[in-house]
Amino acid sequence: MKILVTGGAGFIGSNYIRMVLQEHTDTEIVNLDALTYAGNLENLADIENDPRYTFIKADMTNAAQVRSVFEAHPNLDAILNFAAESHVDRSLHVGADAFIQTNIAGTQHLLDACRTFKIGRFLQVSTDEVYGSLGPEGRFTETTPLTPNNPYSATKAAADFMVRAAARSYKLDAVTTRCSNNFGPYQFPEKLIPLMIANALEEKPLPVYGDGMHVRDWIYVEDHCRGIDLVLRQGQSGEIYNIGSMHDIPNLELVKTLLAKLGKSESLITFVQDRPGHDRRYAMDALKIQRELGWAPRYSFEQAMQKTIDWYLTHRDWLEHVRSGQYSVYYEKMYSQRAKA
Ligand code: NAD
Ligand code: TYD
Repeated sequence: MKILVTGGAGFIGSNYIRMVLQEHTDTEIVNLDALTYAGNLENLADIENDPRYTFIKADMTNAAQVRSVFEAHPNLDAILNFAAESHVDRSLHVGADAFIQTNIAGTQHLLDACRTFKIGRFLQVSTDEVYGSLGPEGRFTETTPLTPNNPYSATKAAADFMVRAAARSYKLDAVTTRCSNNFGPYQFPEKLIPLMIANALEEKPLPVYGDGMHVRDWIYVEDHCRGIDLVLRQGQSGEIYNIGSMHDIPNLELVKTLLAKLGKSESLITFVQDRPGHDRRYAMDALKIQRELGWAPRYSFEQAMQKTIDWYLTHRDWLEHVRSGQYSVYYEKMYSQRAKA
């Protein structure tokens, strides 16, 4: 099987590529990535010389570049679309344009190429955020209406609809996965868990938005990758599959757990101004993928958190590299204006 992965130099994509090359010796991967601030070839340094792996620097927002990748690889069996602008705060504070270009137009360019080049299967990597925010009870199912509340989730929802439209209109063999919040190795430290680990290691304040009682449902990245691979190979055409470990907890509880594991003081916690339109609660019902495809998470939250902390502790150089340069400009912009709550 030969798979074109987009966004493979990012957090989840790089974990997926590593896992698949190890576990499916008959699978070849072509990785199309524009190497934005979130894309880092260091994430794949250990497999860059694998004969079953090819990297191509290309931008999905450019339809001609997308087509030329398909032309150069005429025997692709499947497309796996990880590439996205993925950070809610950037979509709010830096601007929505890049999100519209990559997440919507970029996805459409891939769908068009799949049609032209008659690709067997397309998998869209989506998110629970397209469902919007939950009240204190209940969980998102695959039939929950899409009510996104920020520019990031709105563009992801739009992309999901373009995938649906291509499947209905042109009989494209498409499947969609929607996953909850991931954590694990190689996650860029603008997201909650790596940002808090990085700050705690330096005894810097840990900025908790609002009252810290916003709930997120956490899954280890490897469990997500296994779910995606199962849906790619065995999912029913046209179907949507939620993926999640059903471990939903308030942010404050998560941050306190991290501090305890790192042996750092809770006095580092600093409540800062809330995110505008901050979704209060996410919680996934992932029973469909369990029932129909036999997927189940392999890691408990405890095990996964320990593995993640250990990884960041032993990869301080990686953290240093990704936090140098533009990251510090971003961090300053994001948090210096965020008054203490
Ligand atoms: P990430 O930001 O770490 O990586 C995104 C990758 O896409 C980077 O390598 C970047 O260079 C690449 N990219 C961005 N724009 C591109 C373009 N125009 N052309 C080609 N490549 C481009 O993201 P992630 O956290 O690994 O998320 C991957 C996917 O999973 C996204 O679609 C995201 O919406 C989805 N998702 C993420 C989470 C999560 O918790 N991180 C949860 C559910 C779903
Ligand atoms: P994040 O990792 O950005 O993921 P998402 O917004 O996609 O869920 O944020 C996870 C939660 O943590 C979210 O409720 C916002 C909160 N958060 C903070 O409290 N402080 C921070 O510095 C960050 C980055 C996030």
